[in-house]
Order: sequence, then C-alpha cells, then structure tokens
Amino acid sequence: MADSLPPDGCHHYTDLGEVPWDIQKYWQQRYSIFSRYDEGIWMTDDAWFGITPEPVANKIAEHLSRAPEEATTVIDVFAGAGGNTIAFARSPRWEKVVAIERDPRAIACAKHNAEIYGVADKIQWIAGDCFEILRNETYLFFELKRPSDSIFNLSTMQPYSIVEIYDALAVICPDIALYLPRTSDLRQLAKYASADRKVEVIHYCMEGASKHAQL
Ligand SMILES: C[S@@+](CC[C@H](N)C(=O)[O-])C[C@H]1O[C@@H](n2cnc3c(N)ncnc32)[C@H](O)[C@@H]1O
Repeated sequence: MADSLPPDGCHHYTDLGEVPWDIQKYWQQRYSIFSRYDEGIWMTDDAWFGITPEPVANKIAEHLSRAPEEATTVIDVFAGAGGNTIAFARSPRWEKVVAIERDPRAIACAKHNAEIYGVADKIQWIAGDCFEILRNETYLFFELKRPSDSIFNLSTMQPYSIVEIYDALAVICPDIALYLPRTSDLRQLAKYASADRKVEVIHYCMEGASKHAQL
C-alpha cells in the first residue's frame, strides 16, 4: 500500500522541502494527525486544514458509541481524507460506516488511508454531494429516517418463516417474489443469492415513506 503512487492531487510528503509553505505547520504535526503517516498516508493539500487529528477522532468515535444500541451504522457526511471515518471504522461499536465526500481526490485519499488502517472493508464509500445523496438515496433515506426500527427477523417470522416459504416454493418456481416487511433483515435475504441467482430487493415508497421490501 505504501508503495502505490498517489493519483493527481493526492500526496504523501516525506520531506519539508516538498511541502507547500502554507501547510508546512500542519505537516509538522503529521503524526498527531495520522500516527501511521509513514506507512504512506495520502492527503490533498486542502485536507490538511480540516482533518480531525487521530486522538480527537478517536475521542469523538468513543462519544458517539453511546448512541442507541439499535443504531449499527454511522454516516460521516463530510469524510474528507478519512480522519473521522477511520476512527469510526476502528471502533467495534459500529457494524458499518458510510462515508460521503464530494471531492474525488479527498475520497481517494480516505479510501487509501482506511486500507493502511485495515478498516476499508467496513466502510461504504459514496462520492458525491451529501445533501443530494441524503435526499435521493433510498437506502440512506431508509437507514436515516428509521434509525430506531428494529430489524425484522425473517427466520422467526409467523406463521411461516422465510425458509419454510422459500423451500416450499423453490420446488416448482424458478423465480420467487415475496412482499416482505420493510425492515426485513437484508442479510437473511442475501443468503438466497448465489453466482447464478440474483436477489433483487425493491423498496416501495408511498409519499416519501418506504413501505415494503420485495425479494
Ligand atoms: C473539514 S473537511 C472534513 C474532514 C474529515 N472530518 C476528516 O477528518 O478528514 C470537510 C470535507 O467536506 C467535504 N464537503 C463539503 N461539502 C460537502 C458536501 N456538500 N457533500 C459532501 N462532502 C462535502 C469537503 O470536500 C471536505 O473534504
């Protein structure tokens, strides 16, 4: 990772002489910003001014971990070069971190930096304007609007579990459509996917509210 070349606009400065004058004082603090800086951290020149230093980001992550238990995803809407996103992803409190950033160079740095910290797999990256995304992204809308909805367990669904229904239908039906509760556990549905079988989930919305999911 440290050996890969940064794309245009992303830098890993190793010597004061190559650092633009207006960010030299930030570069001097590079190990407070990212303790693993020398492993090849990438930054845009803008990112130095606004990045959250690692100890502060860790503290913020610790504070946010007091969020209600049912919240399993944290969304960083201004991810920058990844200071906070990485700290959230390093915290065992969160199953998933969604990182939104509109500057393509900054998000390239953040992805790379998350790999250095070994947490890239836990992060869903979205390049774009967070306000647009929050307005339009059905998935995020669903997650954000209903943070306290508990996940509906399809295995214990009454009077028939997903397994009972699926197994009975699969004997004669190559394609199955089920109209399911909107909070259905997507991980349970994903188990029915394979290399030659796609599982499509559609959220039906009425007047802006997600109603149901369909497998
Ligand atoms: C202060 S920096 C965030 C630093 C970040 N917390 C970190 O620790 O690296 C603010 C970032 O928000 C991004 N940004 C500003 N407006 C945005 C928007 N509407 N949607 C997405 N990203 C945005 C900027 O490109 C910038 O990278």
